[in-house]
Amino acid sequence: MLITESPKKLVPKFFGKTSKSYDRVVTGATFGRDKYWKNEILRKVPSVNSVLDLACGTGILTRLIADTYPNAKIIGVDIMQNYLDVAKTNSQNYGNITFVNQDAEKLNIDLKFDCITSSYLPKYCDAETLVKACIKHLKDDGTIIFHDFTYPKNSFVKNLWDLYFVVLNFIGIFIPSWKEVFRDLPKLIRSTSWLDDYEKTMRHNGLQAEQKLLTLGSSAILVGKKIC
Ligand SMILES: C[S@@+](CC[C@H](N)C(=O)[O-])C[C@H]1O[C@@H](n2cnc3c(N)ncnc32)[C@H](O)[C@@H]1O
Repeated sequence: MLITESPKKLVPKFFGKTSKSYDRVVTGATFGRDKYWKNEILRKVPSVNSVLDLACGTGILTRLIADTYPNAKIIGVDIMQNYLDVAKTNSQNYGNITFVNQDAEKLNIDLKFDCITSSYLPKYCDAETLVKACIKHLKDDGTIIFHDFTYPKNSFVKNLWDLYFVVLNFIGIFIPSWKEVFRDLPKLIRSTSWLDDYEKTMRHNGLQAEQKLLTLGSSAILVGKKIC
């Protein structure tokens, strides 16, 4: 079954009531893979003075970057204020992170960054709009790193993946704030072609682009670099 409504319309539905439990759920529901994926993103971040983390959510990746680059200026952006509230509370000891409430597709920050990261955002956005917004905020030799879920291509893994989401959908009955996420997220992941769309869009906009599949093709990282 494909998802028919605009993925962006799912954002308030998925993230309106989930900010307080997000960190626990993302770790549990991905069997700890989220931490590994975020470390893989981090490995792609070049030595930087400034980083913009789009759709920073509760700031898990934002703080990982800040820990690695304590002298860098880091800005986390998210469209949902409730997620930013948790991010701010959890980042009180970080003097180098600032959080901003904005829509990444209408990004308007008066700065250019060495690196722009984002985990779990691409599937909710339009590739052309988001890539152009990022390029506007990227220094000449800057890097964009996008990460998100992908639907595995291998049929055995696909069957396991489908079964896992049936179980998660059942678990959702007992966790009302996550019920819609566990029900609709697999449909969104099956229907998105974010990885190829963003890769093509990056190339059309003059970036070098390279993708890497992770964990049996259940997520992927796409790195875009400005060609100087
Ligand atoms: C699953 S959470 C991921 C949070 C964080 N990146 C992480 O990896 O833990 C997705 C986040 O994307 C944010 N989001 C979705 N669409 C957005 C947009 N257009 N602009 C900014 N943030 C957006 C949501 O509010 C939510 O906090």
